[in-house]
Amino acid sequence: MLLHLQTWQEVEAYLNTAKGVVVPIGSTEQHGPNGLIGTDAICAEAIAKGVGEAAGALVGPTINLGNAQHHMAFAGTITLKPSTLIAVIGDYVVSLARHGFERFFFINGHGGNISTLSAAFQEIYAASSLSSAASAPGLRLKLKNWWETPAVQKLSKELFGRAEGSHATPSEVSVTQWAYPEAIKRVAMGEAHSRVRDFCDAEDYRRLFPDGRIGSDPSLASPEHGSKFVEAAVRDIAEEYRKFVTAE
Ligand code: NI
Repeated sequence: MLLHLQTWQEVEAYLNTAKGVVVPIGSTEQHGPNGLIGTDAICAEAIAKGVGEAAGALVGPTINLGNAQHHMAFAGTITLKPSTLIAVIGDYVVSLARHGFERFFFINGHGGNISTLSAAFQEIYAASSLSSAASAPGLRLKLKNWWETPAVQKLSKELFGRAEGSHATPSEVSVTQWAYPEAIKRVAMGEAHSRVRDFCDAEDYRRLFPDGRIGSDPSLASPEHGSKFVEAAVRDIAEEYRKFVTAE
């Protein structure tokens, strides 16, 4: 169930029996020679939709801009500053909390969002702790990175081994090829540059990783693999969502 395809009466009826919502969050950033700019948002959204169906959960609108400053030397990338993203997440959560939602399960598609999401959660909890008027003791926020579930990790190891790399991975490109087969790109590419140290700003990143990839071979991607990744992620994450909404 997608929030934007419901009426307000349907949302009200949902809230009579449930307090949970799934929130897909991604990024709009370069993903190497054959990866779509929307990869991280597309993956998070596809998996969130599956989790919504499997767990009977409402899925909120995708936050498809993230913290992508390090990709800004590649055309098409859009970034939110961490402070902006924290504000967006805060307003999103507080808006839905006003209607009675209490359990927010974020399915994240972008490693660069992790620290900002954690900071956003602390800002929201701090607002509750610091003001008796805004206190929301029932509020729970959870971050789940889709690529880290046991079934996804196992599948990635089996299919790609070291060629998975850590940015513009064959796993995430496979998921986008499954979701949008009409946008599959066939591009020849050599070996990717590996990570030798942590990167800093956008120019530094581009110097280290000239075609955008970090240690990956996304030419191994296929829609068939993508279908398996979505299935694996949905299975693991739907189970975690059920525990999250029923836990104390
Ligand atoms: Ni990505």
